[in-house]
Amino acid sequence: MTLASASGKAILFGEHAVVYGQPAIAVPLSQIRVTVQVEGLDPGTTGVLIDAPDINQSYWLHEADGENPLASAVSLTLDELGVKAPVDAHLTIHSQLPIASGLGSSAAVSVAVIRALSAHLVKPLEVETISKIAYAVECIHHGTPSGIDNTVVAYEKPVYFIREHKPELIPISTPLKLIIGDTGESMRTTIPVSLLRERWEKDPGTYGGWFEEIGEIVIKARTMLETGSIESLGTLMDQNQTLLEDMGLSSLELQHLIRAARKAGALGAKLSGAGMGGIMLALVEPDSAQIVETALREAGAKQVFTTEVDG
Ligand code: MEV
Repeated sequence: MTLASASGKAILFGEHAVVYGQPAIAVPLSQIRVTVQVEGLDPGTTGVLIDAPDINQSYWLHEADGENPLASAVSLTLDELGVKAPVDAHLTIHSQLPIASGLGSSAAVSVAVIRALSAHLVKPLEVETISKIAYAVECIHHGTPSGIDNTVVAYEKPVYFIREHKPELIPISTPLKLIIGDTGESMRTTIPVSLLRERWEKDPGTYGGWFEEIGEIVIKARTMLETGSIESLGTLMDQNQTLLEDMGLSSLELQHLIRAARKAGALGAKLSGAGMGGIMLALVEPDSAQIVETALREAGAKQVFTTEVDG
């Protein structure tokens, strides 16, 4: 039996603007993971059996439709590994990540599947190749992703990311305590991404200006992360959130949780990921973590994750 896993991710700064060439910063959430187990099949059976019991799915690879991301991850990995002979394997996937919430569930599932299958076949892959395959899966299912999700999940390190550039792994001098609140409103990434594209096409001047402002926030945030200026990072998160709100990417539930976190003493709070639902994240001093966590639960967060990120 082979086991492999992949972390979730959170975008600290720069989501959406990153699709338009601005920088963004994302961190892995190593405590929240997807795990994939690969075993042999029961005697008398043949093929690749994919089981995802958390979402009540079980099917054979050859029966999956072209839209199925798990099946794409398996097929693209086998292609990359040059495996021509039929593979018999039973994959079981477990995830701690809510789906379509901004925590990188789809990238994490792909990366965990790629790692598990390549390890099972004793053909380990380089991290760049793992990221490339996961990006190809994202492209099939999410239109024109920037590539930040597969990158941060594959490298499992904080990244400063500019589309089509080599990702820069950035040091974080002071560990970041993050509290993540899930609104419970799932939102497929493609919806906010394509809505924003329509708005930008109608008014490129205004939206382009907002993207640039976000890019400037990201550049400042990188310095703050490197110097450990945690309070200033919180202020930058709030500024990034204001711009995301201006672009119409927040939601009432997100605003409610963000306000509750700030009121409970968070240094800053913003939506994270595609928005219009999904998760928000708050940056806190370690001694206010419990208060902010409780405030988010009381404000109606469906799940709250407390996590620490270091460089
Ligand atoms: C999704 O996690 C992040 C977005 O910026 C889309 C992308 O970068 O592809 C909203």
